[in-house]
Amino acid sequence: MFVLLLSQIACHTIEKQALNNDSAPVQDSDSDPTTGGPCARAIYVPKSGVDTTESVLADADAATFGAAPTPFQVHLSWAEDPMTSMSFVWRTDGDTLASQVQVGADTSYGFGTIGASFTVLGGDTFGRVHEAHVCGLTAGTTYHYRVGGEGHWSEDRTFTTAPAEGSTAPFRFVVAGDSRDNQVVWGQILDAAEAFAPDFYLFSGDAVDLGSDLTEWDAWLAEGVGHTDYRPVMIAHGNHEFLAQPFFALFALPDNEQWFSFDYGNAHFAFLNDTLADMSAQATWLDQDLKATTKPWKFAHHHQPAYSSCTTHGSSTVVRDAWSSVEEQNGVVVDFSGHNHNYERSVPLLNGQETDLAHGTTYVVSAGAGADLYGNNLAQTFTETATVDNNWVLVEINGASMTLTAYDLSGNVIDQLTATR
Ligand SMILES: [Fe+2]
Repeated sequence: MFVLLLSQIACHTIEKQALNNDSAPVQDSDSDPTTGGPCARAIYVPKSGVDTTESVLADADAATFGAAPTPFQVHLSWAEDPMTSMSFVWRTDGDTLASQVQVGADTSYGFGTIGASFTVLGGDTFGRVHEAHVCGLTAGTTYHYRVGGEGHWSEDRTFTTAPAEGSTAPFRFVVAGDSRDNQVVWGQILDAAEAFAPDFYLFSGDAVDLGSDLTEWDAWLAEGVGHTDYRPVMIAHGNHEFLAQPFFALFALPDNEQWFSFDYGNAHFAFLNDTLADMSAQATWLDQDLKATTKPWKFAHHHQPAYSSCTTHGSSTVVRDAWSSVEEQNGVVVDFSGHNHNYERSVPLLNGQETDLAHGTTYVVSAGAGADLYGNNLAQTFTETATVDNNWVLVEINGASMTLTAYDLSGNVIDQLTATR
């Protein structure tokens, strides 16, 4: 049964259909499934304004294959709990409807799920996007997986679920943003980060210059091959995504895919969309979300900086007024954003005033994944450090300790911060 949801977004209305609501695992008859279970979150397919037929979920027909059915640009994210789920998005030619994922402890797999598929606006040459979620997995476990359908599976790959509840085991993640029209740098960052074996990637938006330009998404997704097909990537909505359909089609994210949160280990991550005209609803949500978590490490992630010395955009006082006090009063340790093409870190702030690391929110801008660089104005009193350079950030959490290290593309450390919680 289809359930129609309407999502009002600023001047845009994105109509989505909730599909495959139970996402019940499809058991392989000759295997012994020992895990897997129903998902809580439906697969939401963005409805095309041009081709309303193809924008509806195609029956996840296990046997329908087109001329180029081999899955490509497979990438991972979490639409549900990182401890017990994984979400998969991939592409094929437009006629391939098979949308299966198989998962298991080894390459005999053992259980799987049927997902959904759809085309995107203006995407005649872009083919079909497929999405599937697998739930009921065991925490802290490495799984093999493949996507596609019988006779046309992707290569075997692996992923690892988040550590079990209560874990204080070390983990690390990458933060980057703003590839815009130069996605090659995003690929360079992913290559460089391999040496640190990150557990997942956070991208703060403006992955492309024009959100409806599928060739740019093609380039961004192609750079992820070998990285984001082994580790999830979570992305915030940037102003250059323009609320266009490809963003919603190409990423399987929680809830409305604009503001949502998830936990990993002893950390909590809240994602926000600062491109909307009215951000008050997100402020209310954020306050409730941050108050509800008991994780010691709380991070916020969105696109436009509340505090920035960038000479092009500077600080967004709109974002600051909407969310900063909520973050600072609820113990967010770092607010990550992009948009201003440089690297910078603020002093810790509480109620807008400088405080110590233990009591304040530090604002980090990492917007160096390819877009033309902007200048900095170091005269800002809230600025701790600022560098005009392509950059990315590695965050390492080890129990009560966090180390944040910013790198340039040559592997030089351009900033480092250690905090405890
Ligand atoms: Fe931006």
